[in-house]
Amino acid sequence: MTQSEIDFFDNLAPTWDDNEIRSTPERVRSILSKLPIEEGMSVLDLGTGTGVLLPYLSSIVGEKGHVTGIDLSKGMLSIAQKKYGDLPNVDLLKLDFEQDMIPGIYDMVLLYSVYPHLHAPSDTLEWLFKMNVKPGGSIVIAFPSDEKFINDIHHERKSESDHLLPAHRLAEVISGWGFSAEVVASSEEEYIILINRKQ
Ligand SMILES: C[S@@+](CC[C@H](N)C(=O)[O-])C[C@H]1O[C@@H](n2cnc3c(N)ncnc32)[C@H](O)[C@@H]1O
Repeated sequence: MTQSEIDFFDNLAPTWDDNEIRSTPERVRSILSKLPIEEGMSVLDLGTGTGVLLPYLSSIVGEKGHVTGIDLSKGMLSIAQKKYGDLPNVDLLKLDFEQDMIPGIYDMVLLYSVYPHLHAPSDTLEWLFKMNVKPGGSIVIAFPSDEKFINDIHHERKSESDHLLPAHRLAEVISGWGFSAEVVASSEEEYIILINRKQ
């Protein structure tokens, strides 16, 4: 992440929760219900931001499971810490998940509203599978909207993020990198790609 990207998210942090109107409880629950997340699992939430997924993930994995949220924006992370830092099965870490070593090995790694901000997506997926995903585990790319909504927002906010392809196209690109990528949902409300390591 560049310093200007960190500044961008630090500036957005105080108003993030008021503006993030698409991650309603119903939509987040619906997206998570389509994923293979169960009680007792360990889940990594990359680019957790203000922690929008954390209470839901914490409740699904329960006391035998664990959730780790990572973000590099101090502004975003301090809000997540204030809201959810007390949850007993949640940890928050300030790291660059494309550059730094991430501690732990997980059943599922989530990139929720984060994928267009990746600088080296194929290397990052490769590295995550190698270092942080359990055998049989998966990585998920998800958004509470379609790609048009995301691309319009990034254009409006003059974000440095990349253009997001439609889910079926991105799944093809990721499969071309040697992973097995499956579109779980593709609608105005839900964009979900589930990625496994090729057997
Ligand atoms: C669009 S926000 C989404 C936040 C949250 N997932 C949500 O849906 O509300 C993207 C987040 O990813 C974080 N981020 C992007 N690239 C990152 C990286 N390489 N390492 C750590 N955090 C990163 C940003 O700081 C920001 O908080």
